[in-house]
Amino acid sequence: MPSEESSPLLGARHGAEGILEASALDIYLSRVQNRNLYLATFAAVLGPLSFGFVLGYSSPAIPALKKSNNPDLRLDDNQASWFGSIVTLGAAAGGILGGYVVDKVGRKLSLMLCALPYVIGFTIIIAAQSIWMLYVGRLLNGLASGVTSLVVPIYISEVAHSKVRGMLGSCVQLMVVMGILAAYVAGTGLEWHWLAVLGSIPPCFLLGIMAFMPETPRFLLHQNKRSEAIAALQFLRGPLVDHEWECSEIEANTGEQPQKLGIAELKNPAIYKPFLIGVTLMFFQQVSGINAIMFYAETIFEAANFKNASAASVIVGSTQLFFTAVAALCIDRMGRKILLIVSGVIMAISAAVFGIYFKITAPSLGNSTFINPPGAGLMEEEYNLSWLAVLSLGLFITGFALGWGPIPWLIMSEIFPLRARGAASGACVLTNWLMAFLITKEFHDFMILLTPYGTFWLFSATCLLNVLFTVLCVPETKGKTLEEIETYFQRSSQPPAF
Ligand code: BGC
Repeated sequence: MPSEESSPLLGARHGAEGILEASALDIYLSRVQNRNLYLATFAAVLGPLSFGFVLGYSSPAIPALKKSNNPDLRLDDNQASWFGSIVTLGAAAGGILGGYVVDKVGRKLSLMLCALPYVIGFTIIIAAQSIWMLYVGRLLNGLASGVTSLVVPIYISEVAHSKVRGMLGSCVQLMVVMGILAAYVAGTGLEWHWLAVLGSIPPCFLLGIMAFMPETPRFLLHQNKRSEAIAALQFLRGPLVDHEWECSEIEANTGEQPQKLGIAELKNPAIYKPFLIGVTLMFFQQVSGINAIMFYAETIFEAANFKNASAASVIVGSTQLFFTAVAALCIDRMGRKILLIVSGVIMAISAAVFGIYFKITAPSLGNSTFINPPGAGLMEEEYNLSWLAVLSLGLFITGFALGWGPIPWLIMSEIFPLRARGAASGACVLTNWLMAFLITKEFHDFMILLTPYGTFWLFSATCLLNVLFTVLCVPETKGKTLEEIETYFQRSSQPPAF
């Protein structure tokens, strides 16, 4: 079990050589200027802002399209559910595509290319003459979101240094949540065509600003473009540091490794251990039930007698935004593991309480309000206890934002060796989005099959498994360089803790 105390990585740091290493790094980091690094991060996170907007877009667009004056675009319930969920299928495909292009054409160009399916997708939606055109537009938006969700964490972790990598990596989730919130807020005033026009703006800025940002030094070194890597470091770290030193530190590690990933390497613990950790984190993020709960948030608020359901979505979005920002600020001091554990425990408790709410109110609801149309047939005791549902929802969202929202994406970008980063991250993204699709599509059936309280207790149990998995299998990556993390997996000869 990798832990702070037993980690060979930390052990090395405590040794004479380790102390020297650490102090050289500390001196280096104390002279770094972060301004351009923040600028590059800002350009990159316009991608997650766009993908958050795509996720949030369906919430205001679906009710409008259901009432559309144009019969060719009027969605029935089934079509509306596809309009919402087809994005996740596109994004799963984006994971495969992203895993390929990120290693072929580089991080920067892959990111810039994402702008195209965003803008083309929104354009097709705006120009749609049929429901199929709406689906195609959403599928393209999803594809862009999948590629973005893979490339941006990798780009940020490869340009950042260990002191701020956690904070900058968490900005990915922060911007996703901001994008979702922006779509909810703008959706209260803008008609769905204009909302799609608005959604096309961040990808255009992404394209424009990224053009002036550097490729990551690690990718450039992998391509044997040393002088360009030094130039990238000069831009990212400012003039006061010894760029040669960081460059040789990266090379010292990557130089020893094979350049390409072969099938035989799947037996190598340095490959399969991080791979299993990354994919399992993504699986657990989704089976926690976050998307099902967010999807049904409006219904939950309606049951709690909130008259304005879209205001409820804004409340959920703002809560997520606030606590994701808290996580971003704490993550480089507290570490990833502790936040994942605290987050998982909060989510497990709140999902269990949610289940209790359903259990108590179930007799008055027949099958449950949550599988009936929102607001239908509410009984007095349900109104009386609805604070419990709202409280559990708020706690669940808070817990997710503090750990299981941002950290799987961050860890995905940290733990894979350079040569496996594209393919392994592709598998993680594919797992995440496919699970997101299954959970949102099947949630309704689960509620019927397992009863609502059974479903929420199942979510609670999976959150407890998340905690167990974190304690046993997830290594702490706080404060370590990507090369140190790679060495850690390389050196660890223990049998896997799975
Ligand atoms: C998840 C998405 C989810 C979003 C909500 C992301 O980390 O991967 O599935 O919709 O968070 O904020």
